[in-house]
Amino acid sequence: MNIAVYPGSFDPTTNGHLDVIERAAKIVDKLIVGVLINPSKHGLFSVEERVAQLKELTKALPNVEVRSFSGLLVDFARSVDARIVIRGLRAVTDFEYEFQMALTNRSLADEIETLFIPTSAHYMYVSSSMVKEVASFGKSVEGMVPESIQKQMDEKFKKA
Ligand code: PNS
Repeated sequence: MNIAVYPGSFDPTTNGHLDVIERAAKIVDKLIVGVLINPSKHGLFSVEERVAQLKELTKALPNVEVRSFSGLLVDFARSVDARIVIRGLRAVTDFEYEFQMALTNRSLADEIETLFIPTSAHYMYVSSSMVKEVASFGKSVEGMVPESIQKQMDEKFKKA
């Protein structure tokens, strides 16, 4: 069975992330979306909120599971018997960081391969940080994130 991990911060999940999840889920038997617990980085959404959002957004995909993880990605991948790490690639600007991460992970666990999925053209410019910045100024991020995420972001920024 081909088990893959799709790791990330997902703060919040964008339509670009969902596109990668849907496409990856078609080529592996099981896809585990791993939300990083990063104590040094305070997110807009808590890890619990992000996991709940992803579970809701992927509920129609039977071979997708959502979990949080802490520590090294390769340790998490090993703990769930995954031999594949999926990452989305948007533009050339992503490449250096992604390549560095893939090589680091390979040096830590050479049985685990990183597979890059090129993002769909209309999500090339979509990132969680851009989405948060735009939404923080009360502007719509329609088309960049699912509607439910837009609503939850609006609520967060109204309270802030
Ligand atoms: O969505 P992001 O923030 O680009 O995802 C980055 C993530 C979570 C994949 C990366 O930071 C990660 O894997 N962190 C876990 C720590 C780790 O394994 N570090 C060594 C490889 S860089």
